[in-house]
Amino acid sequence: MRKQVLVFRSIPDDLLAQLRDAHDVIVADPRKPEQAPAFREAMSTAQGLIGSSVKLGAAELAGAPRLEVISSISVGVDNYDQRVLRERGIMLCHTPGVLTETTADTIFSLVMATSRRLVELSNHVREGHWTRNIGEDLFGWDVHHKTIGILGFGRIGQAVARRAALGFNMPVVFHDPFEVPVPAALAGVARRGTFDDVLSSADFVVLTLPLAEETEGLMGASQFALMKPGAIFVNGSRGAIVQERALVDALDTGHLRAAGLDVFATEPLPVDSPLRTHAKVTPLPHIGSATHETRRAMAELATDNLLRALAGETPRSTFDLSKA
Ligand code: DGY
Repeated sequence: MRKQVLVFRSIPDDLLAQLRDAHDVIVADPRKPEQAPAFREAMSTAQGLIGSSVKLGAAELAGAPRLEVISSISVGVDNYDQRVLRERGIMLCHTPGVLTETTADTIFSLVMATSRRLVELSNHVREGHWTRNIGEDLFGWDVHHKTIGILGFGRIGQAVARRAALGFNMPVVFHDPFEVPVPAALAGVARRGTFDDVLSSADFVVLTLPLAEETEGLMGASQFALMKPGAIFVNGSRGAIVQERALVDALDTGHLRAAGLDVFATEPLPVDSPLRTHAKVTPLPHIGSATHETRRAMAELATDNLLRALAGETPRSTFDLSKA
């Protein structure tokens, strides 16, 4: 049976055509002011939604009384009010797995960029300051053989750990709220620690935890104070896990050496955010999974999930709402 589908972020034409073959489709992105009325209108009849990067809280979901499934083109599902979805029996699909390696690449590039000062030194060349060999004031710090601490040891955390341990000979200490076993490939080089242990023993602390009630604001002044003097903080998960003022303070006092941030509490990053221009921050515009290949794979999986869900079949990747 044909259903009403609302696509709220652009997807490749061939995938849109697949949806149109099976269902009545409206494309409307509420982040574009001229499309916001069409989005609200389509929500009132939509049975299936596909898209990402739009907050669908209780108020927005109340405007979608016929909704059966949301297929998110993301692994993170913090944009959706999971309690409302569970209570109303609305299925939530997402795209784990296909973005793991790319997101780990992004996170590891922030480890490299911050410690070797890549952006700063590249700008040094571009701006015409490379008129003689650089001095100690522009040296970076080694990455290899340093200890990396990973908070959140799911797929992405483990993929970062593999890069660090197997590629850069870095001892790994990790913490995860669940009893995640040390993968065979990391036996002998990765050890489980407490949350505080990870903070206090690592030269790089990398955040790959999902945003949830328990993790919101988790990294505050006392957590940054526990980190080693001169340590580097990298966030590749969600900005709201970090109290950004506390991070700026820890950088300003010189306690932390640098921060590499792909995510922020408010995105796009407001122009007046101190994190935008801070000399010790390497900011990125939330590009964790943003490669042609990976975004394509995510859109394909999300489309497939939606088509299966609307056909009454089991989608390839649903998010478990039972604990919401
Ligand atoms: C994800 O897939 O969750 C990425 O962070 C994009 O939101």
